[in-house]
Amino acid sequence: MNPLRMMVALIALILVAAPARAADSCIDCHRKAVLPLDREHDYAQWEQSAHGKAGVSCHSCHGGDPTQSGPNAHKGLLPSSDPASPIYFTKVPETCGACHTEELQAFRKSAHHKELMRSGKGPNCVTCHGSMANEILSPKHLENTCSLCHRKPMGARPALMALNNASAAVERLGTQIGRSGDAAEAKETFARLEKERGELLRDWHTFTLKGVLEKSQALTKKAIAAARALSAHDANKAK
Ligand code: HEC
Ligand code: HEC
Ligand code: HEC
Ligand code: HEC
Ligand code: HEC
Repeated sequence: MNPLRMMVALIALILVAAPARAADSCIDCHRKAVLPLDREHDYAQWEQSAHGKAGVSCHSCHGGDPTQSGPNAHKGLLPSSDPASPIYFTKVPETCGACHTEELQAFRKSAHHKELMRSGKGPNCVTCHGSMANEILSPKHLENTCSLCHRKPMGARPALMALNNASAAVERLGTQIGRSGDAAEAKETFARLEKERGELLRDWHTFTLKGVLEKSQALTKKAIAAARALSAHDANKAK
């Protein structure tokens, strides 16, 4: 988690925990309000989502005034069909990107963003994550999402699998360093590889998948080589 998101999450937690929570009328009323079933999502879905758990309230994405407890709370609230609404389809990236700044920055460099703004045919954040962002897509689920618009396979699945593998290999190196008594050199390598992993995660939303695949594979190799070198070093010392 980057520091900004950590801060947002902490502030959100404090807001949820403190009695001052009553100031969020969206949550207080929607906990009881029954929405027509065909609406995008309701309180129960929100509560179970990553955002609900982190205390990111309705107004963070929808607007409105959470300090008003009556009908005035909806003042300024616009439906998703209104181009001025923060959840209008071309506005979604900015709305989400207010908190997910790195993802937005990368997404802005993508062909998807260009097509979203030019013709409306590119996906936005919600196309892939859903408006409740209940899950981060798995490699398999991901390919189904791409094929909504692309007829040929886009290589997303191998790229994401390679990225996940690289992440796991770097994490394993970290665990091994924790167990080793003497790992000064490996620690330096680890810091470098962690940085590379961060950069790859950031690159993901540019959807330059061949680059992500190749860099991920290279990163996995480096992490495995460092883990082997550390094992050899520890075995030597034990002799
Ligand atoms: C006093 C109760 C109450 C409060 C406070 C309240 N809501 Fe609602 N809200 C409702 C009810 C009831 C509906 C369904 C009415 C309808 O379908 O028009 C609704 C509908 C909505 C809708 C769907 C509107 C549409 O056009 O489909 C959204 C989005 C929404 N609320 C968001 C919010 C946000 C954001 C806040 C806080 C800033 C908030 N609400 C505060 C009771 C409330
Ligand atoms: C993380 C951002 C986010 C949060 C938090 C969030 N929503 Fe939404 N909501 C959206 C987006 C985006 C859409 C439009 C979805 C689409 O275009 O497919 C939407 C659509 C809706 C709709 C359909 C109305 C319309 O204009 O299309 C309702 C009703 C709704 N949300 C209610 C709520 C309520 C109630 C809460 C809090 C309990 C909440 N939302 C929290 C992002 C959010
Ligand atoms: C007010 C800040 C805020 C806004 C606006 C926001 N998010 Fe989030 N988001 C968070 C926080 C906090 C978390 C939970 C902590 C974390 O994983 O960083 C989170 C988590 C996520 C996750 C990870 C879910 C998981 O299972 O780990 C995704 C994906 C996501 N958000 C997508 C979106 C999308 C898409 C939108 C716009 C519709 C959006 N966010 C709007 C703050 C926000
Ligand atoms: C074409 C599909 C697609 C689009 C569009 C998209 N994402 Fe993602 N996003 C993914 C996939 C797949 C992952 C999982 C990759 C990974 O593990 O980092 C992901 C991961 C994430 C994560 C979690 C990163 C982490 O820390 O693990 C967040 C937050 C997120 N996306 C937010 C956004 C936001 C905000 C937007 C819009 C500006 C957006 N995404 C647009 C597919 C998409
Ligand atoms: C809502 C429709 C939509 C979805 C979903 C979608 N794309 Fe796209 N994508 C487009 C459009 C439109 C373009 C721009 C026109 C083109 O290059 O085909 C594009 C372009 C691309 C490009 C750039 C092609 C190039 O030659 O530069 C890549 C790579 C790509 N998409 C990968 C993906 C992946 C991977 C997924 C799934 C995670 C995905 N797309 C999901 C609509 C979509």
